[in-house]
Amino acid sequence: MSTEREKQIAAEAAARMVDDSMTVGLGTGSTVAYLLPALAARALDIRCAATSPRTEEAARALGLEVEPFVDIDRFDLAIDGADQIAPDGWLVKGGGAAHTREKIVAAAADRFVVIADSTKPVRALRPPVPLELLAFGLRATVRHLGRLGTVTFRDVPRSPDGGVIADYTGPVDDPAALAAALAATPGVVAHGLFPAEMVATVFVGRGEQVDRTDLVH
Ligand code: A5P
Repeated sequence: MSTEREKQIAAEAAARMVDDSMTVGLGTGSTVAYLLPALAARALDIRCAATSPRTEEAARALGLEVEPFVDIDRFDLAIDGADQIAPDGWLVKGGGAAHTREKIVAAAADRFVVIADSTKPVRALRPPVPLELLAFGLRATVRHLGRLGTVTFRDVPRSPDGGVIADYTGPVDDPAALAAALAATPGVVAHGLFPAEMVATVFVGRGEQVDRTDLVH
């Protein structure tokens, strides 16, 4: 079964969690691309905010009401993809370079729902871990990060917030310790390690069925 079909059925399962009058955070990526039509087809009365300009544009084109994430202060649900899902629920995100906004939206959600195909669950998280770095002091930040591991720049445009997109490519033996060390480095705007405590539910498409895991915190 194709991973595209797995993404689609995982996204459709998550779309069914959305009810009328909810505020919904919309993630970014190829799995979320299946969520948007599934959500639009339900024709619910919902308010949405998007984690990237491309999601915002695609959602609006489908008739979803997308507001700037300025006046909304919380979401009932946020739904997004992931690059890697560890057995304990830790994630790596940011393959599409949207991890800074994605993390802010996930943290603002009562329930953060992850949608993925069957290639995303891993036995242990591994590099690369996406980074968004402030351009000011960039070389000094990368030098500072060198104590943890190597950093490579991605050949992509800056983020919508002006950040430089890079990847940490050193070891990921202890995700919590690495997340703390990355977050404590001045000049790191955000990193792509998302803690399990942030995640409420994971939908993984496997063949023609969807596995649902609800994390208990
Ligand atoms: C975007 O920056 C990412 O965090 C995506 O959510 C993640 O890369 C998953 O993307 P796909 O759904 O395209 O695999």
